[in-house]
Amino acid sequence: MRVTVIGGGYVGLVTGACFSHLGNEVIVVEKVPEKVERLKRGESPIYEPGLEDLLREGLERGSLTFTTDIREGVNFSDVIFICVGTPSRPDGSADLSQVEEVARLTARNMNSYKLLVEKSTVPVNTHQLVKKTVQRYLRSDVPFDVASNPEFLREGSAVYDFLNPDRIVVGVESERARRIMEELYKPLTDKGFPLLITDPATAELIKHASNSFLAMKISFINMVADLCEKTGADVELVAEGMGYDKRIGREFLRAGIGYGGSCFPKDVKAFIKIAEDRGVDFSLLKEVERINSKRVEKFIEKVKNAVWTLKDKKVAVWGLAFKPNTDDIREAPSLRIVPELVKEGAKVRAYDPKAMENFKRVFVEGEDLIYVGDKYEAVEDAEVLLILTEWDEFAKADMEKVKELMALPIVVDGRNVFDPRRMEEIGFEYYSIGRP
Ligand SMILES: NC(=O)c1ccc[n+]([C@@H]2O[C@H](COP(=O)([O-])OP(=O)(O)OC[C@H]3O[C@@H](n4cnc5c(N)ncnc54)[C@H](O)[C@@H]3O)[C@@H](O)[C@H]2O)c1
Repeated sequence: MRVTVIGGGYVGLVTGACFSHLGNEVIVVEKVPEKVERLKRGESPIYEPGLEDLLREGLERGSLTFTTDIREGVNFSDVIFICVGTPSRPDGSADLSQVEEVARLTARNMNSYKLLVEKSTVPVNTHQLVKKTVQRYLRSDVPFDVASNPEFLREGSAVYDFLNPDRIVVGVESERARRIMEELYKPLTDKGFPLLITDPATAELIKHASNSFLAMKISFINMVADLCEKTGADVELVAEGMGYDKRIGREFLRAGIGYGGSCFPKDVKAFIKIAEDRGVDFSLLKEVERINSKRVEKFIEKVKNAVWTLKDKKVAVWGLAFKPNTDDIREAPSLRIVPELVKEGAKVRAYDPKAMENFKRVFVEGEDLIYVGDKYEAVEDAEVLLILTEWDEFAKADMEKVKELMALPIVVDGRNVFDPRRMEEIGFEYYSIGRP
């Protein structure tokens, strides 16, 4: 099939590359020309494991092309995936201006049947607004459908997740749209991955409900972690004990410095607002958000308890990305923690395997904040090491060497990367989350 993807970010590029890998001809429309130039050279503008290989494979086969021209994209195929951003507005609601723009420009440029598929995360009933917008801006009486096909990929394993989904959710209103979507996903449904067909409103809601639920699990276990700290229990074992229960599951019961990223914070906010606007009091989610926001303050407190004051302290930071295997720092806890350390007078040396370039754009290097190219360099002479992202590279670090390099052997681990007993054996003063 021919497929058009509008928006060449994390979701759009993975969607485009994977649909091309599955045997389709794909065009990705991205409005930032520099990104398109890099993509045409086979370079991914983002770090996502396996993505660059698929981009190159598509380019070499000629089944994947890139353009800045939305007219070219609209003419290319009958199926148009909307993969643009839906950031938060100041009141927490989703800013749908990019989605509206795509609907408008598609309508202006279409002269045959099109199926517009919302892959961006949007509030329930956005499909009605997309439909209304297309109708308004159509130049002639061209038939079209709007479908919802929310994306559940996780950054860091996005390619794998797209090709091995827990489920594919498709919300459609017409038989024609259903058939197109079924055909497109046939290579995956043939392998046994479940496809759930719903109406568009239900599909839209499934996405916000899923992300909000996962965020709730994280906040829940973080409160359990606080209780563990007061009682001598071990949150990792509590989570394991809970997780064996199939009704609960082990995933997302990870205590730490809270969730971040481009999805959970904004999606929880949007879901609260959607409910509020319809008179539904979803106060449970407000608590989820409040608990999450407090995690960073609690972590800073923990650091201060460990080193007393931060003024003039040499602090090593391992991890800036909001989670491992990505260069994404959107809403990462590090964005709040690092400036707080600097504000308190600390001298910070930070290292992240992939996210430093993005972080540097927000916090320019200076006397109080230096970026280094290696995890061992970061800890040289440090009086405390803070772990903010659970990169595998950190878990595998030679901690004996780290202890030798540090001025004082103090580690405050916001992601429970190490075994406390092992750290004690090596001679560290080790603080983690919710563990004795
Ligand atoms: N990142 C994730 O892990 C993830 C997972 C599931 C769902 N989502 C949802 O998918 C959507 C996209 O997220 P993302 O992380 O890929 O965002 P992103 O910011 O990485 O990418 C969006 C891209 O769209 C481009 N764009 C905007 N308007 C355009 C237009 N008119 N024409 C062409 N390109 C345009 C932007 O330049 C940008 O490159 C959001 O709604 C998000 O909530 C994201």
